[in-house]
Amino acid sequence: MIQLYWKNATAEVVGSEHGISQGDLTAISDRLSAAVDAVRSQAEAGQLGYTKLPARTDYRDRALQLTEKYRPGCTDLLVLGIGGSALGNIALQAALNPATYNLQSDRARGGPRLFVLDNVDPALIKDTLDLLGRRLKTTVLNVISKSGETAETASQFMIVRELLRKRLGDDFARHIVATTDANKGTLHDIAAQDGYDTMVVPDDVGGRFSVLSPVGLFSAAMCGIDIKALLDGAREMADACKGPWSANPAGMLAAINYIAMTAKGKPMHVMMPYSNRLYLLADWYRQLWAESLGKAHNKAGAEVFVGPTPIKALGTTDQHSQVQLYREGPNDKLTIFLEVEKHPKDLRVPDVFGEIPGLTYLRKARISKLLNAEKLATEYAMAQSKRPTVTIRFPEINAANVGAFIYLYEYTTSLMGELLDIDPYDQPAVELGKRATFALMGREGYADVARQIKPFTKIDRNYLI
Ligand code: PA5
Repeated sequence: MIQLYWKNATAEVVGSEHGISQGDLTAISDRLSAAVDAVRSQAEAGQLGYTKLPARTDYRDRALQLTEKYRPGCTDLLVLGIGGSALGNIALQAALNPATYNLQSDRARGGPRLFVLDNVDPALIKDTLDLLGRRLKTTVLNVISKSGETAETASQFMIVRELLRKRLGDDFARHIVATTDANKGTLHDIAAQDGYDTMVVPDDVGGRFSVLSPVGLFSAAMCGIDIKALLDGAREMADACKGPWSANPAGMLAAINYIAMTAKGKPMHVMMPYSNRLYLLADWYRQLWAESLGKAHNKAGAEVFVGPTPIKALGTTDQHSQVQLYREGPNDKLTIFLEVEKHPKDLRVPDVFGEIPGLTYLRKARISKLLNAEKLATEYAMAQSKRPTVTIRFPEINAANVGAFIYLYEYTTSLMGELLDIDPYDQPAVELGKRATFALMGREGYADVARQIKPFTKIDRNYLI
């Protein structure tokens, strides 16, 4: 299973101003224990829906049942969703299938190409639909929306449903799978009226915690990912997170992140995978961390304005872009490296250019060795500049380890919520932008917001250069 290595975040390595000492841990030990107890009690009381997902065989089996039904003959899977209804799907696909997956022939892939439209960029939508072209006949559409009324997903759905209806006639509904609330909502009602197959976004699981529900499981299974192993890995991590904070990876990760941001002046949390396959897990993490932990009020309603800023970087690529800042800029960051011991593929540099002294060290070297050496070198260089880092080590990139990583971060987010004394499961600040969009698009019932937003609709030329 994945493991956490945190020595390079300690005072021993980066000094007591920036690193975590035994004293720092002891000082918040009671609070950590209370956080672990609180989250465990909430989970045991059934209040944290996401903690039940690794063991939910019904959701898994439904995703597999529909995969069995739709995969044969399906050349393309088009997923419509945004935020928590898309980022997990994208991350799973990037981690567990080759980057070239969509470029392979239908026969080589064995499953459909995957397109996740998680934006209303008209060029993105049009380009994708144009590419699908005649293959729309063998395309399956998975529309994912818990609320069913998210403007981005709803507008895309209206476009694609109409296109399918025109191309396929009465058959169009047999190409659509809706993932939404079990009992209510606009998408639920449309699915019932049109007769789509449906899967459930569990009522008690927030969007960004839903990747291990049918939200993420169906597209993964359709693309050949072993979702049983994914859930097994999450379950194994859930078991590992049951111990006291110091013996549990989520407890320790929460402790490090919390101390870094509060006592060590490090509100910037960089996730830097040394693996392209894991890069988009950092995107998923960004949403989880940002929407869950960035809050204006604590649980008692007092203003607190807390929240670490999640940042993503890619090793080694961003060594040539970001590391200058990370080492010499403000010492306000905690960096979490993701490291892979055994990469899914490997190759050797050929034994050439023996006469060029500056290149001989590369001859016959494995590229995986170079990549991991660069990670270690960056870790070392960061430590020299007193910059704390943590490493999450993947023995290999497989479904079980990715499942474990997902659960680790979800559970850590719950613990961080307790430590920060905020509600990590809501996202009140997202609402105003949604309401303003409705107003700007002329939705009925939003005239008051339309009035308030009016000054913003006019460009003040005094400020235009
Ligand atoms: O994490 C969240 O709750 C959000 O990112 C939602 O997933 C996102 O807004 C999409 O919502 P919905 O699934 O209702 O369309």
